[in-house]
Amino acid sequence: MKITISKVLPDFETLVVGLFEDGEFISNGRVLQDKQIINRIKKFSHFNGGFGEFFSVALSDGKNVIIVGLGKRDEWNENKELSVGGKIYCELGRLKIKQATVSIEGSAENIAYGAFLRSFKFDKYKTKKDEEITEVEEIMVLAKDEQLNNAEKSFEHLRQEGEGIFLARTFITEPPNVLYPESYADCIKSELTKFGLEIEVLDKKQMEKKKMGALLGVAQGSSKEPKLVVIRWNGASKEQKPIAFVGKGITFDTGGVSLKPSRGMESMKYDMAGSAAVVGVMRTLAGRKAKINAVGVVALAENAVDGSAQRPSDVVTSMSGQTIEVLNTDAEGRLVLADALWYTQDRFAPKFMVDLATLTGAIVVALGNNEYAGLFSNNDELANRLVEAGNEANEKLWRFPMNETYDKIIDSPIADVQNIAPTGSGGDSIMAAQFLQRFVNDTCWAHLDIAGTAWHEKGTDISPRGAVGFGVRLLNKLVEKYYETSD
Ligand code: BES
Ligand code: MN
Ligand code: ZN
Repeated sequence: MKITISKVLPDFETLVVGLFEDGEFISNGRVLQDKQIINRIKKFSHFNGGFGEFFSVALSDGKNVIIVGLGKRDEWNENKELSVGGKIYCELGRLKIKQATVSIEGSAENIAYGAFLRSFKFDKYKTKKDEEITEVEEIMVLAKDEQLNNAEKSFEHLRQEGEGIFLARTFITEPPNVLYPESYADCIKSELTKFGLEIEVLDKKQMEKKKMGALLGVAQGSSKEPKLVVIRWNGASKEQKPIAFVGKGITFDTGGVSLKPSRGMESMKYDMAGSAAVVGVMRTLAGRKAKINAVGVVALAENAVDGSAQRPSDVVTSMSGQTIEVLNTDAEGRLVLADALWYTQDRFAPKFMVDLATLTGAIVVALGNNEYAGLFSNNDELANRLVEAGNEANEKLWRFPMNETYDKIIDSPIADVQNIAPTGSGGDSIMAAQFLQRFVNDTCWAHLDIAGTAWHEKGTDISPRGAVGFGVRLLNKLVEKYYETSD
């Protein structure tokens, strides 16, 4: 779909305008000078501009005006603008309208961006086009004269993030027979190199050399070899320590010998959503030439089960030297992250590191689906900044406690640590975070458990059903707001 920002009202067929609750038409379009339309509508309808409501009128000259309710004027904000953009995209589709001009008070770039985000499609495996669906082909958003240049620039800027999100969604949606560690690493390379990012791929041999026993243990039951991909963006001076993002990239999680039930197992293709968010945010930082040094590290493996798969009660030695008793092979995310986190802090000594992982089903029980991701951290400042960035980006986080009492619970009787707590301990998501913390040393660190937010069955205003790309907006906001050098 084509989205543009323009200042002239073209000879439109369909014009979308906004109406605040009980307000007046706001637009720079000519039809809208006619405030009487709204009074006429009110005579025969209860439409009053409630947020996200639509009303359409055919004008006598054959033109079409769609009114979208903007809700209460004093509640109007950036995220509402994005939502309205997405809602407009959907409504046009529903009405089978291919092309429309949008004229709404507020920032044109946000409306355009919302529509763009909602327009994500993944139909490469469909061999027939669905005749029923009319695709929206073009949306032109009007900006006021004096804002035009800015709006166009800002939209281009936002679009970089949008492309990062689309890349993440695409990877997450790809089926696991197509996207497995090796093919995924290849795609990361081919998609990111062109933006000036440096990519390194560690293969199994190199991991063996580095003694990444925890990661290798997870991968050993699959015919697909694991990969560890390092993505680097150097946007600031060499002396500056990088920030680091680490992602869980289990391209499919069967559970291993601790096999998952078959019902719902198909959803485990998105068990690499953390890694996809890391790839997406790195793409975004490069696309907008962010003034920051950043590294992204993604640990890619398939948790499958064959004759050489690891067993519950195996003991593996992680890169850190700590031994792990693997009591449940389905708690594999923390195992691959143990080595990825250790590797990251050991090699890069980052300013901080944030890992993203679809780590526990328990986080969905605690926080519900889709709204909040779990936040765990050893540093209050980083945690607070993440919460703030999450609120602004509308990718919300809720912080959980961590402490020594929890930590003790995962001491193993025969190794340094065990990968799950004894039955009945509860707090699975916290236990997982405590496990990770044993592999971060003193590095400033946060862990985001995105098991509930990575995939959306129904979809939102700015994301169609399926992969969300959760984390890209949040982390991009974090960098922009707190860590980028200003010059
Ligand atoms: N990938 C799953 C977690 C998950 C569950 C992600 C639902 C998305 C939706 C993870 O590897 C897992 O299996 N975790 C176990 C941990 C348990 C064995 C302590 C779980 O949550 O059941
Ligand atoms: Mn698992
Ligand atoms: Zn998993």
